[in-house]
Amino acid sequence: MKILVTGGAGYIGSHTIIDILDNTDHEVVSIDNFSNSDPQTFERIKAITGKKVKNYEIDLTSYGTLKKEFFLKEGHIDGIIHFAALKAVGESVSKPVMYYHNNLNGLINLLKCAQKFDVDSFIFSSSCTVYGNALEQPVTEQTPTQIPESPYGYTKLVGEKILADFAKTKLDFQALSLRYFNPVGAHISGMNGELPKGRPNNLVPVVTQFASGWVDDLVVHGSDYETRDGTAIRDYIHVSDIAHAHVLALEYLNSNESESNYDVFNLGSGRGVTVFEVLQAFEKVSGLKLDYKVGPRREGDVEMIYADNSKATTLLKWNLQFGIEEAMSSAWKWQKHLNAAKRDDKVLL
Ligand code: UD1
Repeated sequence: MKILVTGGAGYIGSHTIIDILDNTDHEVVSIDNFSNSDPQTFERIKAITGKKVKNYEIDLTSYGTLKKEFFLKEGHIDGIIHFAALKAVGESVSKPVMYYHNNLNGLINLLKCAQKFDVDSFIFSSSCTVYGNALEQPVTEQTPTQIPESPYGYTKLVGEKILADFAKTKLDFQALSLRYFNPVGAHISGMNGELPKGRPNNLVPVVTQFASGWVDDLVVHGSDYETRDGTAIRDYIHVSDIAHAHVLALEYLNSNESESNYDVFNLGSGRGVTVFEVLQAFEKVSGLKLDYKVGPRREGDVEMIYADNSKATTLLKWNLQFGIEEAMSSAWKWQKHLNAAKRDDKVLL
């Protein structure tokens, strides 16, 4: 199969490409405009897999360019895994139009091309944010979704709806929305990981960058939640486990085992972990002490969310390989790789 991965230079996209190249015979081609990633990622993918991936630097919000510069040039595409999107919750509150424009038009243009060029399979990167302040824990795929607090979250909920409605009109089409919980960690080699532009927002890159002196402070956002240690609970899931779920999802779509041509899956570990427990796991694997501060709650944060992942483990036959300590040690290995490149003023490989 020939698979288009959008956002192939991004955090989850690059790990998914590595998994596809390592474990299948599929051909992969990427579209990434490097708005929050780096072309060097493809060098890292090559160093890990020994394979070169072709990337098109195209903005998905331009339908004309996408059609002319990608689909007409590349020929038939069997499946699309659509990662490319903006994902900073706080930024989406201050720049809502940018988020709606980018995330929704990117998806719509890909679906228009899927129609025109007869693409059969589609996997959409969704998020546990669609459950909002969930009514039950752990959340299953049947737990009602809620109006998300942030425009980012709204683009995921609406994106799922657009895909579900589109699937009703194209019956030879097979589509899935994968609801990621909190992807963390790095490739086991420590040679590929998360590297957002600017100061990170997500907990794990903040921790590893703080431990390396790249960011000045580490603030725990709230210790007055009604949880076992007062900090918020999330479901941290190793990025390589998330990546592998995409390979299994492609197999699942191809096997036609699904009763309907659109479905959703939770991709989480099934374990709720507090912020303090994440910091402890990092301290344990790194041998360092984190001099963090406790601040107020972050606006828009929910107290607790973790997944019931039994649908994915049963239907996709997804077996998790890594736990929180492996996630933290691989993230730290990747950070040390970044530190070494910075110290020696070398191009990062
Ligand atoms: C959120 C979304 C997730 C989305 C992701 C994209 C929810 C429930 N989750 O993840 O779907 O894909 O954004 O960015 O809406 N924290 C600190 N200090 C920090 C950073 C984070 O204490 O410096 C805490 C947060 O308050 C939170 C936890 O760490 O309790 C995880 O935060 P983060 O890594 O930013 O992810 P979410 O906000 O859970």
